[in-house]
Amino acid sequence: MSRTAAAVPAVLSALLALALTACGGVDGTPGGPGVRDPYFPKAGNGGYDVRHYALDLSYNPAERHLAGTAEITARAGQDLSAFDLDLSGLDVDRVEVEGRPARFSRNGQELIVRPHDELDAGETFRTVVHYSGTPRTLTDPDGSEEGWLPTAGGGALALGEPTGSMAWFPGNHHPSDKAAYDIRVSVPEGTEAVSNGELAERRTTGGRTAFHWRTAEPMATYLATLAIGDYTLHRSTVRTAAGRDLPVLSAVVPSESGPAEEALERLPEVVRWGEDTFGPYPFSSTGVIVAGEGDAGYALETQYRPVFPGAPGTGLLVHEMAHQWFGDSVTPESWRDMWLNEGFATYAEWLWEEEHGGDSAQETFDALYDHGEDEYEDLWSFPPAEPSGAAHISDEPVYSRGAMVLHKIRQTVGDTAFRDLVRGWTAKHRHGNADTDDFTSYVERTAPDEDFTPIWRDWLYGEGKPEHP
Ligand code: TRP
Ligand code: ZN
Repeated sequence: MSRTAAAVPAVLSALLALALTACGGVDGTPGGPGVRDPYFPKAGNGGYDVRHYALDLSYNPAERHLAGTAEITARAGQDLSAFDLDLSGLDVDRVEVEGRPARFSRNGQELIVRPHDELDAGETFRTVVHYSGTPRTLTDPDGSEEGWLPTAGGGALALGEPTGSMAWFPGNHHPSDKAAYDIRVSVPEGTEAVSNGELAERRTTGGRTAFHWRTAEPMATYLATLAIGDYTLHRSTVRTAAGRDLPVLSAVVPSESGPAEEALERLPEVVRWGEDTFGPYPFSSTGVIVAGEGDAGYALETQYRPVFPGAPGTGLLVHEMAHQWFGDSVTPESWRDMWLNEGFATYAEWLWEEEHGGDSAQETFDALYDHGEDEYEDLWSFPPAEPSGAAHISDEPVYSRGAMVLHKIRQTVGDTAFRDLVRGWTAKHRHGNADTDDFTSYVERTAPDEDFTPIWRDWLYGEGKPEHP
């Protein structure tokens, strides 16, 4: 029920609603310009939930020119007179909602759309945005570069964490709104365009190659990627624990073909180890994208196939593959919950080490506790569940101290119960979203005889270095 209707008696309000519907409806309100993320208040938009993105793009590397349409299928969560999409830069040429031209305006990253006809709560509606221009490289609050990165090889790489995907397509750019995607990209013949999911089609006509990538499973926009350039594609399969043959599609730039061999060979083993440790692999395909060393300042766990700037070592490969379960399948509800991504991905590295002849997780934990601040100056600068600002969501406390929280839980429940707990967590929120409260209450329910209060108080939320290891 809308706010205005609540003020009048039920019968009157029903009549009023009827009258308003009859004359086209004027009781909708605009959707919010953000979803109140504590770190990125303008990220995402209120009033609707995206179900599907169909991107149809054309890129010319020489001019760095992108042109295309984004067809966004969404469900209205309220009566909507207007709604926002997030888009940074680029020129919007035209917007249609439900097949009719819509008015639109821009305000910073907000693309404000006023549909010709108001949208009703519960209605599924289609928005088409026609846009073009040179996509921007954005600088994160922490100084790293994301969005659209032109590469040394004359191509481009799209990386979206936390808010970079709005540099190449309009959408609801917040991790809480996951959707399925069809990404079509045309590039000059001889150039590859690699994205998420499966390659449904690839066709060359008139000097251009059109790729169609499809993701069946829901994906947060920050996990979408596009790698355009000179890549060699490697296809194989890996047999999952459930006995299915998971397609592997990896892409490697020529300069990394030698160094990347080890990672390509190691990948099936990492996927199978991940299944043993975290539960069934959550997606319908896998692989890696190995870009040039200088093409990005960091690796990213883009869904189905993470991106690496240069061939990764085993630790980094394990980290990004672990994110397929932690971050990609179980996605943070907001950017505050980042430690659920990075703590788990870091702990995955510790577990891998422990099980492959390296230090035990206990030894890694102890070394960090005893002299972690020598290596990471900021290790104790804030608690993992409360990063000290948007510039700090990828700082060490989110990673290492997040992993320490998980190790404390393991110490409390024991190895076997911890394993079950982790597998239960990935099963419970598979393809969904979860926040820190979901996690702590899940842990408490899983082991009702244990007292986790000191762990939450000292390790998850406590300022400074906890007094006892
Ligand atoms: N998620 C990446 C990783 O750990 C790191 C990263 C890249 C990141 N860009 C970011 C983290 C932006 C937070 C914000 O593999
Ligand atoms: Zn990570």
